[in-house]
Amino acid sequence: MTPSPAVSDATQDLAALRAALLDVRNPVRVSGAEVPALGPEALGDPEFRREHGVRYAYATGSMANGIASVELVEAGARAGLLSFFGAAGLSLERVEAAVERLRDSLGERPHGFNLIHSPSDPALESALAELYLRRGVRLVEASAFMDLTPAIVRYRLSGLRRAPDGRVAAPNKVVAKVSRAEVAEKFLRPAPESLRRELAAAGLITADEAELGAEVPMAQDVTVEADSGGHTDNRPLVTLLPSIVDLRDRLQAESPLREPARVGAAGGIAAPAAAAATYLMGAAYVMTGSVNQACVESGTSEATRRLLAQAGPADTAMAPAADMFEMGVKVQVLKRGTMFAMRAAKLYELYRAHDSIEALPAEARRQIERDMFRESLDAAWEKTRAFFLTRDPSQVERAERQPKHKLALVFRAYLGQASRWANAGAPDRALDYQIWCGPAMGAFNDWARGSFLAEPRERRVALVARNILYGAAVLTRAHALRALGVRVPPSAARVEPLPEAALALALD
Ligand SMILES: Cc1cc2nc3c(=O)[nH]c(=O)nc-3n(C[C@H](O)[C@H](O)[C@H](O)COP(=O)(O)O)c2cc1C
Repeated sequence: MTPSPAVSDATQDLAALRAALLDVRNPVRVSGAEVPALGPEALGDPEFRREHGVRYAYATGSMANGIASVELVEAGARAGLLSFFGAAGLSLERVEAAVERLRDSLGERPHGFNLIHSPSDPALESALAELYLRRGVRLVEASAFMDLTPAIVRYRLSGLRRAPDGRVAAPNKVVAKVSRAEVAEKFLRPAPESLRRELAAAGLITADEAELGAEVPMAQDVTVEADSGGHTDNRPLVTLLPSIVDLRDRLQAESPLREPARVGAAGGIAAPAAAAATYLMGAAYVMTGSVNQACVESGTSEATRRLLAQAGPADTAMAPAADMFEMGVKVQVLKRGTMFAMRAAKLYELYRAHDSIEALPAEARRQIERDMFRESLDAAWEKTRAFFLTRDPSQVERAERQPKHKLALVFRAYLGQASRWANAGAPDRALDYQIWCGPAMGAFNDWARGSFLAEPRERRVALVARNILYGAAVLTRAHALRALGVRVPPSAARVEPLPEAALALALD
């Protein structure tokens, strides 16, 4: 390691201070203060990197319908990130094909798959867990859980054994995404005895596994998700993360012998300052989402990526969710360049106020048939019916008994197609695109403005991640220098996005 030359007076020698700060592989010495070398590999919890075998404490989250595609996972894994495939919304066959493809292309390189809670279809959730167990998938991102289910507990407890050092070894790892303390607590604790017994009695785990399950937390990593793209409670990370870290510490104090679970963070992180601040708040790792959808490897369309590149931080809105429409659950979507949020809100308003297709006011019905469905609601119902007859006929029976359920299914069909149009880039449906997206997207665009990364074609998952991490490392050192009493003007620590070759020079 060649030490950087000492910078004598930071205010007079701004360029030298900046050069020293950007050279993260060497210490900075200035005005008698010294901050050691600190590359992106040093950010976050070393245990996270060790246990998962990754270079960086940086994860790319699952994105439904294969938006977190196999290409995205491959790019992330090769760069040393922890990347999750977006299995939600895909058939079991497609998920299995992704498992196979990634096993072939990545071998032992760490990567994971989404195990999403399906309240309306517990059989699907169990089948997905079963598939992961059968195919030897060792890492899942568990999301949308409000409570533990037999499927996720079975996955976690299968294969538990006592290691020679007396600790319990868990071959199946769970990274659980949560946005509330009640749910976090369930994953930070071991699975409850009642569920462990139930699974053992049903022969789904062994008696030994049920017993050892009392000694491991349900998840070894819990991702606290703040205001993010897609499903979100819109909570601010600066309040949510410390409170869940506190909760983890309190639970750990109750059972000091147990391995503590790590707490990471997601939601709003897409620029260096956000990542640096998140690590400083105690996150073991950061997870990104929105910004990865804007990268060329994602499973969405070029048209969507172009729209995402134009978003500002305020260009998102909450809109009714297709999967939990009747319950009034909302998702965060892109507002600029598409009318989806407004149109979906209109459908929800009509659903709340009326009990059947026939009861809709004539003018409103004409309007949505013309602008959104582009066919009569009767024709739309016939297609929806045909879809559910192959997928879940009980829905059709219920809709035929309950006209309000039929109304919900037709409206949900529009919402579901709106995502597919966005992913396919259907040119005649641009105003209907449903694009899950959080304010992180706008923050990234602001940071990338004027640089090569403003261009959608240049955005690559690993390049974006390593730029965010590099910038975070620079800012962390600037922060440390300031804490030592050195004046560091903001311009000395500003990091512009670097192209691949320059980044490699700075980091590798
Ligand atoms: C397009 C899109 C689809 C998503 N789908 C899922 C999903 O299926 N399962 C999941 O656990 N999280 C999903 N998420 C959340 C991300 O994995 C990640 O936690 C989140 O996007 C991080 O916040 P950010 O959007 O502010 O970066 C999705 C996010 C986006 C933007």
